[in-house]
Amino acid sequence: MRVLESDNMAFEVSPLMESSFERMLVENFSFANIAILVDENTHNYCLDYLLTSFNSLSKAEVILLPAGEENKIIEVCIQVWEALAEYQFEKKDLLINLGGGLVSDLGGFIASTYKRGISYINIPTSLLAMVDAGIGGKTGIDLGNYKNLIGTIFFPVYTYVDNHFLRTLPDKELKNGYAEMLKHALISEVELWHILVKIDSLNQLINTEAIKQSIVIKQTIVSKDPLENGPRKLLNFGHTIGHGIEGYLLNKNPVSHGHAVALGMIGESYLSYKLNFLSNTEFNQIKDQLLKIYELPKMPTSAINEIMKIIKQDKKNKLNKINFTLLEAIGKASIDNFLEEEMVEESLNYLFNLK
Ligand SMILES: NC(=O)c1ccc[n+]([C@@H]2O[C@H](COP(=O)([O-])OP(=O)(O)OC[C@H]3O[C@@H](n4cnc5c(N)ncnc54)[C@H](O)[C@@H]3O)[C@@H](O)[C@H]2O)c1
Repeated sequence: MRVLESDNMAFEVSPLMESSFERMLVENFSFANIAILVDENTHNYCLDYLLTSFNSLSKAEVILLPAGEENKIIEVCIQVWEALAEYQFEKKDLLINLGGGLVSDLGGFIASTYKRGISYINIPTSLLAMVDAGIGGKTGIDLGNYKNLIGTIFFPVYTYVDNHFLRTLPDKELKNGYAEMLKHALISEVELWHILVKIDSLNQLINTEAIKQSIVIKQTIVSKDPLENGPRKLLNFGHTIGHGIEGYLLNKNPVSHGHAVALGMIGESYLSYKLNFLSNTEFNQIKDQLLKIYELPKMPTSAINEIMKIIKQDKKNKLNKINFTLLEAIGKASIDNFLEEEMVEESLNYLFNLK
């Protein structure tokens, strides 16, 4: 019995039928039980294609999750662990996460903990999961308002990215993934930024090389620092403030992860500018581009205190200072900038008073 060794660079971007998916299943999981984790939407839009196209999946069990971030919680995990136990899953068996970031984060967490780890494959079906959540091995669930507070780093044995799944993805979900693509460009590739800001309609993204470029940026950063001791923190740009906003709104008027990160990127670009890392011109370009696409939700004045409470719980903080990845220019970022609370509050005030 074994868990297949994962290679954190193992991914393919191609139609699934032309990929190594079936061969990988035959070579490694012929004698394994296989379960496919889906949510309600990927059950309806994506599962049939998988079940009808690949013989190796003819006996796979299907585990259905309720859709929505509010279900990325321990109670749902318990039901999935119970299902795997009922199917008598062993160490050699395989979980396939077919879905967006909810399914890959929660499914990866399940795989990393069930019997101390079983193999899993990610087949991301949302743009956000393709360019971000489905790769890089971070798994996790939320605890109350705290996003991804409980989790592990446990790599999938493989990630298969097939952009044909995006055809059924609602426009607002394209917008959600686009934010993480902009983030990848902002932290490390000015050319990608220029390509992305020229796109007229987000549907154009579906067939562009930009998806692959975005994945390569993430994979390259993760491969240098899989456990996030250094350069991987670059990927947190926009997320410290973003997670605060996302967590605060979770049970009120939820915004998507990408939307929250986009707002976080405005706040954190403001901090970068105030600290004289980023020029005023580039700060305005970033702010204007993001505000063109992502609206500012209405926030009561009490929101700032509540968001600050969440930000102060951020996993990256040290000695009561809040740790930020900040921009030095479009395409260049720096990690481990520890800031006082007052500055962060100032950036939230700035953000929520923008028109
Ligand atoms: N692990 C990481 O490194 C990482 C990185 C970024 C984000 N995340 C996490 O990812 C989550 C957000 O991911 P998400 O935006 O994909 O959310 P999601 O999984 O909730 O998907 C968004 C919506 O799209 C639907 N959907 C997915 N694929 C579809 C398809 N092909 N057709 C029709 N509908 C489809 C889903 O059912 C859902 O309603 C958050 O929990 C966030 O914390 C994790």
